[in-house]
Amino acid sequence: MNLTLRLETPNDHRAVEELTREAFWGFTRPTCDEHYLVHLLRNSPALVPELDYVAEADGKLVGHIIYTRAKVIDNEGREHEVLPFGPLRVLPEYWNRGIGSALVRRTIAAARNLGYRAIIIYGHPDYYPRFGFRSADLFDITTPQGTNFDALMALPLYEGALDGITGAFHIDPVFDIDVEAAKAFDRNFPHKEPAHLVPIDVLLKRLQPSLHKAIRDRKITTLAALNRFSGREMLTWEGIDENVMNIINSTLREYGYAEKLLPSSSILKRAELE
Ligand SMILES: CC(C)(COP(=O)(O)OP(=O)(O)OC[C@H]1O[C@@H](n2cnc3c(N)ncnc32)[C@H](O)[C@@H]1OP(=O)(O)O)[C@@H](O)C(=O)NCCC(=O)NCCS
Repeated sequence: MNLTLRLETPNDHRAVEELTREAFWGFTRPTCDEHYLVHLLRNSPALVPELDYVAEADGKLVGHIIYTRAKVIDNEGREHEVLPFGPLRVLPEYWNRGIGSALVRRTIAAARNLGYRAIIIYGHPDYYPRFGFRSADLFDITTPQGTNFDALMALPLYEGALDGITGAFHIDPVFDIDVEAAKAFDRNFPHKEPAHLVPIDVLLKRLQPSLHKAIRDRKITTLAALNRFSGREMLTWEGIDENVMNIINSTLREYGYAEKLLPSSSILKRAELE
């Protein structure tokens, strides 16, 4: 495969929206509105066009990453500019070939060269540590509600970049999309039936009934919903140990989802080496 990464041009817009729809449709919800979000992000003043990259495999558009400006607001009300990216997407037929990683690595380097301070994201908590992301909690950065979870991650782009910068992370309001407008936008694309999501019951029937509460209490109804949690986080849930995680992981693998990392995983060490 001949992989090229380059800046997005207006000629790519439709193909990028189509690939976004393919990547997210049925991923965590039966349909998706990320293609509408990408459409809005391109026209937002928060967009960082220098980091708006597409990936082409053998001349076909297969991936995209998009960055917007956001801020951390500290206790004194001071605003510190940071960059989130997202959504990152790769066409499903091209998953697990290093395309997502290539887009992330290329744009981290470009953001660093442009002098940005840090990247802060909401993302798959067992995917992004390989690029050096750490829980935002380690930097005392929270959601606007003051909460934290492993899916909120930060990557300082130079030594000490987040020193003394603590507070609440606020993404641009463009992310608050209007669901009805997203549905209307989707009508510009060929009809697609809502996907059937794999119910969490396929996992629950393999687990002792005493473990069901940990999952049900978190209102997890599909296997895909486990994407929000890291393996480390899940191991803190009532009754979930490494043996149970092995059952969870074999179920995720069987249904085509990424496995959760165990704390014994080498991934954090690997990221530190990079
Ligand atoms: C997430 C996504 C961009 C990854 O793209 P990709 O090109 O397949 O990624 P890479 O080939 O660089 O990396 C594949 C690795 O990531 C892992 N991975 C993928 N999704 C993961 C997830 N949700 N959690 C943990 N690991 C994940 C794979 O298991 C594989 O692991 P390995 O290297 O140990 O074998 C792609 O799966 C995608 O578009 N998904 C749908 C949209 C989405 O979720 N976007 C991210 C929003 S935060």
